[in-house]
Amino acid sequence: MTRALIIYESKFGNTEQVARELAKGLEEVGVETHLTKPKGMKLDEVTSFDAILFGCPVHMMGPTRGIKKTIDKVGKIGVSGKLTTAFETYAGDHMGKAVTKMEERIAKKMPGLDLVKPGFSALVEGYKGPVATEDLSRAVEFGKMLGNRLQG
Ligand SMILES: Cc1cc2nc3c(=O)[nH]c(=O)nc-3n(C[C@H](O)[C@H](O)[C@H](O)COP(=O)(O)O)c2cc1C
Repeated sequence: MTRALIIYESKFGNTEQVARELAKGLEEVGVETHLTKPKGMKLDEVTSFDAILFGCPVHMMGPTRGIKKTIDKVGKIGVSGKLTTAFETYAGDHMGKAVTKMEERIAKKMPGLDLVKPGFSALVEGYKGPVATEDLSRAVEFGKMLGNRLQG
């Protein structure tokens, strides 16, 4: 079975909710999907997945330090031939600020991966959320698109 790993950080739970909706979409098209925070990530198991998604909230107009470190760590184990993408939640007019920088970092640290660009951005209404309703359903659709691409 095709398998995807979603690695995410989330301070108030919004990015986690988006990660779950992405997982729902992936699962709907038959991709077994696992979620983990960087701390719980088992680096030796990362290579067994067919797709790796990296997600975090926009903090200070960029990705969180934790997800940047995670991208670097996964990059060091030498993964290749997998699908990858980035996703974020943002609260202001900073849509794409974390996704773009994660994409640049992924491309640099893991040039052997098939990077799906642009990644996914979800708006949160205020720093603590909630996630905009239409972006939750867009997340499911994005997950399905990735799953279909992965298996197509
Ligand atoms: C320290 C900090 C810095 C932030 N900086 C930005 C920012 O530069 N631009 C922006 O759009 N949102 C910013 N936000 C809002 C976050 O994007 C928002 O809290 C986040 O999307 C919520 O997701 P979470 O529940 O997964 O943490 C910031 C939030 C925090 C806590």
